[in-house]
Amino acid sequence: MAQQSFRVFLPTVLSRPFGANRYSLCTKSFTGFIKNTQRSYIRACRLQNNVSFAGRRYFSGDNAKVIVVFGSTGQQGGSVLNAIKDDKNFIVKAATRNTDSTRAKQLTAEGVQVIQVDISDAASCRDALKGAYGVFLVTNFFDTLVPEREIQQGKNVVDAAKENGIQHLVFSGLRSPKEVAGLEGCHHFETKKLIYDYIVEQGVPYTVVDYAMYYENLSSTMIPRKNEKNEYVIDIPMGSAPLDMLCVSDAGEVTHQIFVQQDKYKGQWIKLGSESLTIEEYANILTKKFPNRKFVAGKTTPEQYAKYGFPGAEDLAVMFKFYATGKCDHDIELTRKLHPGILTFEQWVEKNRAVFEAACP
Ligand SMILES: NC(=O)c1ccc[n+]([C@@H]2O[C@H](COP(=O)([O-])OP(=O)(O)OC[C@H]3O[C@@H](n4cnc5c(N)ncnc54)[C@H](OP(=O)(O)O)[C@@H]3O)[C@@H](O)[C@H]2O)c1
Repeated sequence: MAQQSFRVFLPTVLSRPFGANRYSLCTKSFTGFIKNTQRSYIRACRLQNNVSFAGRRYFSGDNAKVIVVFGSTGQQGGSVLNAIKDDKNFIVKAATRNTDSTRAKQLTAEGVQVIQVDISDAASCRDALKGAYGVFLVTNFFDTLVPEREIQQGKNVVDAAKENGIQHLVFSGLRSPKEVAGLEGCHHFETKKLIYDYIVEQGVPYTVVDYAMYYENLSSTMIPRKNEKNEYVIDIPMGSAPLDMLCVSDAGEVTHQIFVQQDKYKGQWIKLGSESLTIEEYANILTKKFPNRKFVAGKTTPEQYAKYGFPGAEDLAVMFKFYATGKCDHDIELTRKLHPGILTFEQWVEKNRAVFEAACP
């Protein structure tokens, strides 16, 4: 309240019309007083809201809710951060292990407050969540490939959320293939289901966002490979079953809406997806968009995929088996309701032509 009245007061004082003579009567000390007052006010704002004064963040509403975004330098968290950072009802804090990374510095330059947190460290999580209203949590199995570590990281944040009275934790969760379809060995799904169980057990108010596979994988970790016929093979072992996908860099808006409409979405498990096509259908869209290239669906089975030998291959093979059962559905209608502009696969390809052309030369 005091802050608000000061905000009104300062510009009024500064813009009050001074006649030339009266202005000349203004002493340097008055100007100095105003400048010092401004500086103190800005410092007070920084301390109170932990807001950087690089621009618009300063103008967040007085009742703005602080949201700590984990994974803010990565795909999911980065997208969530982008979707929320210009909403004056929120103040985002971007969590990263390294505040000196290029991405972290970019965020700072954009006026986002970047905070150093390692979710492996319980104390660091507790400090990070002090005074926050909400949290977006994504844990990264592939960083360590050790299930117990991911589970512990998730629990550290949940404990910190409970201790700090966090009112809304949006957790990026996944279903258990073991529980849902009797399929064992998909650790990066099981870990997230166990973290979810812990959230419920601890009674932290939550919403789960359960992401389908990213379109982006097709231009990063799952780039179509050229065969002897010069065709680009999408090597995803789904057979003729549809694969649900979405654009991760676009999906952050869904989480933004979940924070905005918290009364409606607290306690829900939301299955995010924006497309559900067979690999052949994805390939046909790519061929349509790049007529001088032919994309085809691969014939690899999950068993063959598991033997590729790269870290996490076995995990992913079980994941594809799980997807193919049809028991890992995603709610495209609800996703689109929360974010009507969410990109279809074709729109995403069109937007990323250059990236795709570079990935599939
Ligand atoms: N790829 C898919 O299609 C897909 C689909 C559904 C779900 N997922 C799940 O998505 C998760 C990965 O998310 P992503 O794609 O956003 O990953 P990403 O782009 O690789 O980003 C990982 C983020 O996690 C942060 N991070 C990692 N370890 C941390 C730690 N100890 N403390 C604090 N921050 C840490 C990193 O921050 P700093 O490096 O800056 O610290 C980075 O911002 C995986 O667990 C995967 O299972 C993936």
